[in-house]
Amino acid sequence: MDKIIITPFSEIAHREQVIALWHAVFGYEAAHNRPALVIGKKVAAADGLFFVALAGAEVVGTVMAGYDGHRGWIYSVAVSPAHRRRGIGSQLVRFAERALADRGCMKLNLQIMEGNESVAAFYAALGFTVEQRVSMGKRLPENIPAA
Ligand SMILES: CC(C)(COP(=O)(O)OP(=O)(O)OC[C@H]1O[C@@H](n2cnc3c(N)ncnc32)[C@H](O)[C@@H]1OP(=O)(O)O)[C@@H](O)C(=O)NCCC(=O)NCCS
Repeated sequence: MDKIIITPFSEIAHREQVIALWHAVFGYEAAHNRPALVIGKKVAAADGLFFVALAGAEVVGTVMAGYDGHRGWIYSVAVSPAHRRRGIGSQLVRFAERALADRGCMKLNLQIMEGNESVAAFYAALGFTVEQRVSMGKRLPENIPAA
C-alpha cells in the first residue's frame, strides 16, 4: 500500500478527485455546499488551509481549516471508505491543527451532526471534547446560486 502524504490542495492535480470524494462521502444536496463552489471559494481565499491526503496520485482524504485571528475551525474532514481506520483522518486533522497552531491559533472548533457517534468517537480520540453550545447559522441568499 502507498505511503500517505498530506499536501496542500492543488486545483490542477486534485480538484476533480476531491469533488468525487465529497459527493461519495457527504452527498451534499444544498447549493451552498456544492463541492465545486466550495472549492472555488476556498481557493479564492488563498489562506493555505486546504489539504489532501494522497496515496500515490490518488486523493484519499481531505481537510479544510479556517482561521480568523480568533478561533480556528476545521471542516470537510473526509476519508475515502476504502482507506478508513488506517489513521488517515487523524493525520489530516493533526496536520490542520498544526497549520492553525503555527498561525497563533489558541482554540479549535468544529461541528458534527447530532447523533453521529462514530464521528464523535473519532474527534474524541484526537482530544476534542463536546462543549454545550447551540450552533446557529444563517444563509446569505445573494451569494448562493440558484439550483
Ligand atoms: C470520520 C473519518 C474522517 C475518520 O477517518 P479514518 O481515517 O477512518 O480515521 P482514523 O483511522 O484516523 O481513526 C482514528 C480513531 O478514531 C476513532 N474512529 C474512527 N472511525 C470510527 C468509527 N467509525 N467508529 C468509532 N470510532 C472511530 C477510533 O478511535 C480510531 O482509532 P482505531 O482505528 O485505532 O480504533 C471517516 O470515517 C469519514 O470520512 N467519515 C465520513 C465523513 C465525516 O463524517 N467526516 C466528519 C465530519 S466533519
